[in-house]
Amino acid sequence: MCGIVGFVGQKQAAPILLDGLSRLEYRGYDSAGIAVITPEHTIDLRKAEGRLKVLNDMTDGGNNVHGCIGIGHTRWATHGVPNSTNSHPHMSEGGKFAVIHNGIVENYIEIKDFLIKQGVHFQSETDTEVIAQLLEFYYNECHDFFESVGRVLRRIRGAYALGILCADCTDRIIAVRKDTPLLLGFGEGENYIASDVTALLPYTRDVVYMDDGEMAILTKDSVQIFDAMQQPIEKAHQHIDWDLSAAEKGGYPHFMLKEIFEQPDALRHAISPHLRDDRVVFDDMKLKPEQIKDFTRLVIVACGSSYHVGVLGKYTLERTLRRSVEVQLASEFRYCDPIVDDKTLVIFISQSGETLDTMEALKEAKKRGAYTLSIVNVVGSSIARGSDDVIYTWAGPEIAVATTKAYSTQLAVVNMLALVFGEVLGTIDPTEYAQTVSELKKLPEKMESVLSHHEDIQKYAAQHFNHNSVFFIGRNLDYALGLEGSLKLKEISYIHSEAYASGELKHGTISLMEEGTLVIALGTYGKLFEKAQSNIVEVKARGAEVLALTTESRREEMRKTVSTVLTIPDTVDMLLPNLGVVPLQLLAYYVALQRGCDIDKPRNLAKSVTVE
Ligand code: F6R
Repeated sequence: MCGIVGFVGQKQAAPILLDGLSRLEYRGYDSAGIAVITPEHTIDLRKAEGRLKVLNDMTDGGNNVHGCIGIGHTRWATHGVPNSTNSHPHMSEGGKFAVIHNGIVENYIEIKDFLIKQGVHFQSETDTEVIAQLLEFYYNECHDFFESVGRVLRRIRGAYALGILCADCTDRIIAVRKDTPLLLGFGEGENYIASDVTALLPYTRDVVYMDDGEMAILTKDSVQIFDAMQQPIEKAHQHIDWDLSAAEKGGYPHFMLKEIFEQPDALRHAISPHLRDDRVVFDDMKLKPEQIKDFTRLVIVACGSSYHVGVLGKYTLERTLRRSVEVQLASEFRYCDPIVDDKTLVIFISQSGETLDTMEALKEAKKRGAYTLSIVNVVGSSIARGSDDVIYTWAGPEIAVATTKAYSTQLAVVNMLALVFGEVLGTIDPTEYAQTVSELKKLPEKMESVLSHHEDIQKYAAQHFNHNSVFFIGRNLDYALGLEGSLKLKEISYIHSEAYASGELKHGTISLMEEGTLVIALGTYGKLFEKAQSNIVEVKARGAEVLALTTESRREEMRKTVSTVLTIPDTVDMLLPNLGVVPLQLLAYYVALQRGCDIDKPRNLAKSVTVE
């Protein structure tokens, strides 16, 4: 996610803001900016695309920006391409307010339309600018900074951590948090806000983590905190004793573990912008219902884990749309003289949006006249720009090489696509639609419950990290899930592993089963549960040691076949892999930890594969 820093005190703010932002660079960003209230009671705004160094050079390390109160931001593009206009802080048209924001304003289009009708002119393509403009709109009515913020919060929907300056109230910053992290830092005659404690470590280790719905007013001598009803509250301070490296990882030993645990929030960000009155909508999608009805072929193209999302997508989309869906590895698609034409929809899935094979496959599909829709995490990336349509996954920057939260959010987008297309084609039963939407809403919470059992998986990994070879077996959705579980394990723990469609065991692989072979048997898909059990019996008969994964309601039934059983909460079929992947990610992580592997940077691998 983007980074937030704010300072109010007696020293010059800009150098402190730039230093704080530099400590957030590891999170990834594409532009940066600061806003400082000058001694003349105006707001001095400086923004630059690219590295922080550009902003540093522009401001002489902050020395040519004068004032003791300010806010700073590093932006990782969401709404609008990375450039200096779209970067934060955003100002209101009359120059009264400057705002920095992490998160998403879901109803920004409606608010922007409203403000344009009131004569407001917008500068950027961002959702954040509506906050600055709306603040000024309300301030012109009530002339009260705090009240204006309250009115804005009642009007906007979404997730936000905000730092706000008002040129008429030159002694304060207002900070707000909902569903996006924000903390307050306390110093002597100075106070701070930050999205991440790393930014503040050289200045203070005395902090308060804000909770959802809370607001704070910071001056150099005081910090007042308010609850969601805007009533003053007291909160206990925490002392942070992490070193810098631990702080960057939010106290987790590795980015991968942090990102695994960030998945419920990442899902909230991926799902909530598309939920409207119990329906799934893709407001920004250009694809029209008539076009969806007209496609004769549907092809999904991707690499690695994104390809595994595509394999799950094939099962889900075929079942929901009753249409044939093909899934292809991008590196194969580009050279196979693909049969695609203007009646084909090709969906490209890519976290980075820069994977060369996927990019080349996209060009190939376009050359042949196909309609191209990409599911991408990095806004403004080559694949996003090159496609006819793009749906962003809003997972935030992923730092560990092995993907986790990007995979989960891609999968959620594919699930939502199945619902949207199914509704257009009339192939999804309304009751199933309603039940799936209701389960989509519960998905982040159910994932939190899976994560809460991480210690069971850690214990299992401590006993089983020494295998040379591991098999993941399953059918249908469980097979596709096994592909990802197997890839996670091999890429970070260096254990050889294979994912097999259980029905294929007898056609070859079963000859590899011997005393002690480790088999991870995936049996979450209820319709094929008995078949999953039969395959477990088969491999156990050859001496395999089995760890089974199923749903809570089938735990006891599974226990009749296997003694070691992990479970996930029950949900609709389509969403089972979204939960099932979490124990597999954790297993890979804890096995790799036991083996002393370099988890965040596995050997020979790069985060973004921009070569063939
Ligand atoms: C595995 C992993 C890779 C990527 C693949 C595609 O953990 O991260 O397999 O999924 O390199 O990358 P993107 O999605 O960026 O196109």
